[in-house]
Amino acid sequence: MTAATAVPGLAGEILAEFGSRISVHDLYDEVGGPVYHDLAGSDTSEIREMLRVVRAHPGPVLELAAGSGRLTLPLLALGREVTALELKESMLDLLRARLAAAPRGTRERCRPVQGDMSAFALGRRFAVVVLGTASVSLLDEEGRAGLYACVRSHLAPGGRFLLSTVELVGDAADGADLDFEAAGASGTRYRMIEYRPAGAPVRNVTIIPLEKDTSTAEPIVALTTTIRILPVDRLENELADAGMTVVARHVMPANGPRHLDVFLEAAAV
Ligand SMILES: C[S@@+](CC[C@H](N)C(=O)[O-])C[C@H]1O[C@@H](n2cnc3c(N)ncnc32)[C@H](O)[C@@H]1O
Repeated sequence: MTAATAVPGLAGEILAEFGSRISVHDLYDEVGGPVYHDLAGSDTSEIREMLRVVRAHPGPVLELAAGSGRLTLPLLALGREVTALELKESMLDLLRARLAAAPRGTRERCRPVQGDMSAFALGRRFAVVVLGTASVSLLDEEGRAGLYACVRSHLAPGGRFLLSTVELVGDAADGADLDFEAAGASGTRYRMIEYRPAGAPVRNVTIIPLEKDTSTAEPIVALTTTIRILPVDRLENELADAGMTVVARHVMPANGPRHLDVFLEAAAV
């Protein structure tokens, strides 16, 4: 659990008003995971663009930071063998539950693996390694160096590493909180506050209950995550240092007023 006082910006101010009624969790822990899964269920971003590139590279796929399978299931739908690596067992449990409900042929082509994307050794190579949803931003510089080395040693000759990031655009630099609502696949609505002080190297996203849900005496749960800001140019340089070259930049439709999603298609040099 995270201390409410550690949440910056408007979200922190709102949480402070609830005093001891509030508990703050990581967005991907046992409490946050099901909410992330609900939100991910209504998020189709990147899928079409990623699948288009994956289709051009036949063979087994390694998906990193697979979470509860937002990208895993569409990858399996291509008829590929997919190894889905994820740090949190609680997220893997959500993926396993989805696989259990999938047709046997699909389920049998998927291998969920608990592991750290910055240090893994699977003993085989893949035609494509996918790291979506800007999840590279969850790693610090040392973690990213480990990630690139592991990816390079798991790429088959001619293989591709697809990783997405978010470029901040528009009013993202002014330091204001972005306060908006998003709906999960279940229909539940969530209030999300994104905070980034001007020029800061990270942004914080916090999910707090809607006002109507805080009027009871029940304990209140908030979820938070910190995301590094990793512009495309920086990632391209890091990939080059790790012996990979970017062969294409794919810019995706704008996802909100502040964000431009881009995924990089890289190959070993
Ligand atoms: C933004 S979510 C993306 C999940 C999924 N790819 C999707 O599109 O919904 C990031 C995921 O990365 C996982 N994660 C965080 N650090 C990780 C690490 N070092 N290695 C592997 N997975 C990690 C989190 O548990 C979480 O499930």
